[in-house]
Amino acid sequence: QQQALQIAIDGPAGAGKSTIAKIAAKQLGLFYVDTGAMYRVIAYKVLKNRAPIDDESMVSQIAKSTVVVFDHSDKRIVWCDGEDVTQEIRCPEVSRAVSVVAAYPGVRERLVELQRMEAERGGVVMDGRDIGTYVLPEADIKFFLTATPEERARRRWMELQKAGKDVTYQEVAIDMAERDRLDTEREVSPLKPAKDAIILDTTGLSIEELVSKILALVQGG
Ligand code: CDP
Ligand code: CDP
Repeated sequence: QQQALQIAIDGPAGAGKSTIAKIAAKQLGLFYVDTGAMYRVIAYKVLKNRAPIDDESMVSQIAKSTVVVFDHSDKRIVWCDGEDVTQEIRCPEVSRAVSVVAAYPGVRERLVELQRMEAERGGVVMDGRDIGTYVLPEADIKFFLTATPEERARRRWMELQKAGKDVTYQEVAIDMAERDRLDTEREVSPLKPAKDAIILDTTGLSIEELVSKILALVQGG
């Protein structure tokens, strides 16, 4: 029974989705599927090929011909056509381009197909923007994580500081606000809570508090 569990986690950038999804998947023995990484791989390839990002049909063609592979071990390596791009997909250039490519229906169609295939392998914790509303509408339990824009930007900025990246809080806050705007305003599968999602405001909550809250809800439901 537990093997086929589907847990959907959506929300804006920096809400804590991937941190919580990884821990919950490990504790529950489920696969963790990071759908944002898939959109990042396509943005990375568009930039690498110097393809015009505004050319929707060219970008959709790139999405269709790219081989995106995930390693489900703890290393969580992400592959793009056989190249390890785990680090590269987190750079600011990719972060700035990703919401543009993610708004194209052709890109989404292709990646949603891959996401549903991942979910057929067994139980999953999947995080993204449209998991509860579109990718896994029949998920057993759906969470929508939020936090104030200031806290989300501060978390991401601290993460980048720790990684030795030279960015200011202001830059992170501006890029994040723009990405959330594009994700919320796009026509296909915009960022919004599913009708049956549990909305959790994570402002001021530690990772431990959030994990125990979520595990209690999963196990209690
Ligand atoms: O981790 P972070 O919040 O920075 O973003 P992410 O989860 O890696 O997602 C990067 C981008 O991919 C988002 O800003 C969306 O534009 C897009 N995305 C999406 O459109 N649908 C998803 N299910 C997941 C990500
Ligand atoms: O995946 P998403 O963009 O929603 O967020 P994340 O990458 O999981 O979290 C962004 C950063 O916030 C990470 O460095 C987490 O360690 C941190 N975080 C936190 O400090 N407190 C929380 N309650 C949740 C996440």
